[in-house]
Amino acid sequence: MQNGSVRGGGATLYKDGPRFIPFPAASLDKENGRDGQFGNQNLLRFSPFALVGKSRTPAVKGAMLSYETYKTVHLLGVITLVVGLGGLIVHYAQGGESKVWRRRLAITHGLGLVMILVAGFGLLAKLHLMASLPGWAIGKVVIWLLLGGIIALIRRKPALATFHWWATIGLATLAAYLAVFKPF
Ligand code: HEM
Repeated sequence: MQNGSVRGGGATLYKDGPRFIPFPAASLDKENGRDGQFGNQNLLRFSPFALVGKSRTPAVKGAMLSYETYKTVHLLGVITLVVGLGGLIVHYAQGGESKVWRRRLAITHGLGLVMILVAGFGLLAKLHLMASLPGWAIGKVVIWLLLGGIIALIRRKPALATFHWWATIGLATLAAYLAVFKPF
């Protein structure tokens, strides 16, 4: 654990900054002769620097935010995007009369996309995966493109609202699945 990273339990643990503690961390700490969940290492990981984590890895030293911050922004982006798409689907299915809502929903959708993209690549950098993107990350970029492009379909084919509805739910679920299970 001192050098590099440890994967396990669906979470990834890194040495270079304050981190969320996945449960395998406790057993790893025990193996390494530390106190487990509440040992020194974990106190360090819970430091207030978590919000604007100061990485000690030379390659990512500088103005990077913490893993937790990127993930929160990423998830905020997902929530914003899905709310925007849901609203857009209903808006256009019902005639798309309101200019105020058309603008509000388009901005919501766009903001969600930007937050997902920026924080998604921030997360990849934090996970040291930018040098060669794994398959699951490439899959997520494709899903991001589809969820960005679907707005054109929603506008032009409001009669397919039910399809857009389930496609949005399905694609968002697939993106989450790829990040959690990392199947390839
Ligand atoms: C540019 C596209 C995207 C990139 C580069 C990206 C990248 C990532 C990365 C690196 C993680 C962290 C994985 C980890 O902690 O092990 C993550 C988590 C996550 N992503 Fe994305 N993502 C993208 C798009 C999306 C989209 C479009 C959605 C859904 C609409 C999404 C949903 C999620 C969720 C729910 C998680 C949290 C999974 C967990 O709890 O670990 N992502 N993403």
